[in-house]
Amino acid sequence: MARHLRNLWDLDSTGISQVIDRAVQLKAAIRRGEAPPVFAGRVLGLLFEKPSLRTRTSFEVGMFRLGGSAISLSHSEVGLGKREPVADVARVFSSYVDAIVVRTFDHDNVLNLAASSAVPVINGLCDRFHPCQILADLLTVQEAKGRVAGLKVAWVGDGNNVCHSWMIAAAQMGFELRVATPKGFEPDPEILAKCLDHRPGSVRCDSDPRGMVDDVDVVVTDVWVSMGQEKEAAERRRLFADYQVNRDLMSCARGDAILLHCLPAHRGDEVTAELIDGPQSLAWEEAENRLYAQSALLDRIFGAVDRVEHV
Ligand code: CP
Ligand code: NVA
Repeated sequence: MARHLRNLWDLDSTGISQVIDRAVQLKAAIRRGEAPPVFAGRVLGLLFEKPSLRTRTSFEVGMFRLGGSAISLSHSEVGLGKREPVADVARVFSSYVDAIVVRTFDHDNVLNLAASSAVPVINGLCDRFHPCQILADLLTVQEAKGRVAGLKVAWVGDGNNVCHSWMIAAAQMGFELRVATPKGFEPDPEILAKCLDHRPGSVRCDSDPRGMVDDVDVVVTDVWVSMGQEKEAAERRRLFADYQVNRDLMSCARGDAILLHCLPAHRGDEVTAELIDGPQSLAWEEAENRLYAQSALLDRIFGAVDRVEHV
């Protein structure tokens, strides 16, 4: 595998499956209170330019529970690309820690950090991708449905960073992703083209939410206003009004369909309180699964580093 997780293409389908399988093992062990100390002596460095509850906490707690440690720095401390160049931050930070998680606006920051880092760099969300989220989401789907391949999944809302990562997962993991967005908010055409090139038919895009949700196994949504888009909030609320996941839209899906939401949720905007807090919602399991999926990812990354070092 690639050393880094810049986006989900850095793992192939086998790699993603192995991370999910390992996450199942680690989840059971952590819940039994028998977490193996596989991260003993490891330090994870986190560098966050945007707010976070789940990503930062789940990475840090994963390190602590499995015997390692973590240090988190904010943009105000580091000034990525402002106080000093991204490449210099990468050289210095990576001389202290064993892997870096970065949350940033510009995907180029992820690429530039990775290019100059001596240790693996993991994308903890940027404007284009959120690969760690989708590892936890696939684990949640696997637990609920017993499989991922062959399912029908609908994405409803903005063709954003989380949507892009779902698209790559669909291309790699053999399920069908139907993307329903308002016109003008479709996913990036280059990312779509790469997904369709990898597996034709894996992703379909349309502006009709009911048509896209029809008979699906999984409905996924996300905020209408991503971090950094706050000035567009009023306009986006107006344009996305028909894309709310509510009882009416959910009734188009299969009766046993599940609802996923990466959170934070805005009840009354992209999802109703009834749905996100109701029995079809697995958003809370999904959030908890960030801990296990990312611990499995780190285990794989640290293991690969060891293998390289020891040959
Ligand atoms: N879903 C997610 O990434 O949450 P945070 O922004 O709280 O990390
Ligand atoms: N699309 C959202 C995801 C938050 C986890 C954002 O980028 O703000």
